[in-house]
Amino acid sequence: MCAHFHECGGCSLQHYQYEKQLEAKQEQIGETLQRLGGFSDFQIFSTLPSVEIFHYRNKMEFSFARQRWITEAEIAEGLYVEKNGHYLGLHAKGFFEKVIDIETCHLVKPIVSEIVAAVRDIAIHSELPVYSTRDHEGFWRFLIIRTCQNTDDLMVNVVTSRFDEKAAENIKSLSSQFPQITSLLYSTTANKASVAFTEKEYLLAGKNTIIEKLGRYQFEISANSFFQTNTKQAERLYDVALDYAEFSGDENVYDLYCGAGTISLYISDYVGQVVGFEAIESAVKDANRNSVLNGVRNCEFVLGDLRDQLLDTKNIISRFGKPDVMIIDPPRSGMHPKTVKSILYLQPDRIVYVSCNPATLARDLKELRTIN
Ligand SMILES: C[S@@+](CC[C@H](N)C(=O)[O-])C[C@H]1O[C@@H](n2cnc3c(N)ncnc32)[C@H](O)[C@@H]1O
Repeated sequence: MCAHFHECGGCSLQHYQYEKQLEAKQEQIGETLQRLGGFSDFQIFSTLPSVEIFHYRNKMEFSFARQRWITEAEIAEGLYVEKNGHYLGLHAKGFFEKVIDIETCHLVKPIVSEIVAAVRDIAIHSELPVYSTRDHEGFWRFLIIRTCQNTDDLMVNVVTSRFDEKAAENIKSLSSQFPQITSLLYSTTANKASVAFTEKEYLLAGKNTIIEKLGRYQFEISANSFFQTNTKQAERLYDVALDYAEFSGDENVYDLYCGAGTISLYISDYVGQVVGFEAIESAVKDANRNSVLNGVRNCEFVLGDLRDQLLDTKNIISRFGKPDVMIIDPPRSGMHPKTVKSILYLQPDRIVYVSCNPATLARDLKELRTIN
């Protein structure tokens, strides 16, 4: 088992054998649908095991912190908590001000841990302090690394609170240390929340997007765009969604929370047309570019917050036609109640809801069932 497991907030089930992890997930979903959704009449299929159980995660966001988590054994040895260090890793369970100064994370490819060590080293040798959400001062904030499974692309994005010429130069040296990096970005954010969403990007080496393949499709993904984090499972997830949607070939499909258009394009051969809705501008640009890249002509993408976009349902229907099927794949927070209401007004014949959070899935399904 991972040496960091008991303290690290990154994983919660690694102490179980993989078979047991799958069972635990299945049980959790059943229990949540009953308890939070009030559902009793449903069927849960067995969890589809991942092709790989380690090194599968294609994106990891590491955070800088001034304090690292000190284990009980270290405290017993007399180690004290340093107040102004340069630590880089994953948050300790329940502690946003402290990170586990990760040496190896088994969820990502080994090169990712090597890059983490190199970036930590650059920060340690800089004269610049780590940012803290306590006083909103400091420089170093996040490191985001994205790897691909079906291509060799590798994106490294170092996020700080402001631009610094010397830091940019030092970060740029990563590209000679790791020639595998195909996209080296330096980004800044003034956002006070601990969210690794960047506002300004500087391209230091390579290109500013990565390309990943799913099935026969290629997807160009930029730094702020979402992409399913387990590439091989994403393809299987989309196949399951396709299967459940039971398309006959001419449906009008709304793909809500469409990201870079991955589901829209993946299902495009099986339907009449797809309209994707998404709030992040770079993701909509990626989606449009991905349509062209794959020669797809029956998808269009609409930029905006779904809560507002779907409010005027008459206007939506006159612009895009009534939806026959909706694919809904929201963030962990689930759907806004106004979006749920709009969906009920739009009355699609079928909904396929893809969820990464059983609790909000249960809440949304309950709303979808009860509002009239
Ligand atoms: C779980 S991802 C799914 C993306 C895509 N379906 C896929 O499989 O790659 C959720 C997406 O919803 C977008 N999003 C979050 N809140 C939104 C909102 N209020 N309105 C529209 N899009 C939103 C995010 O930017 C993200 O791209």
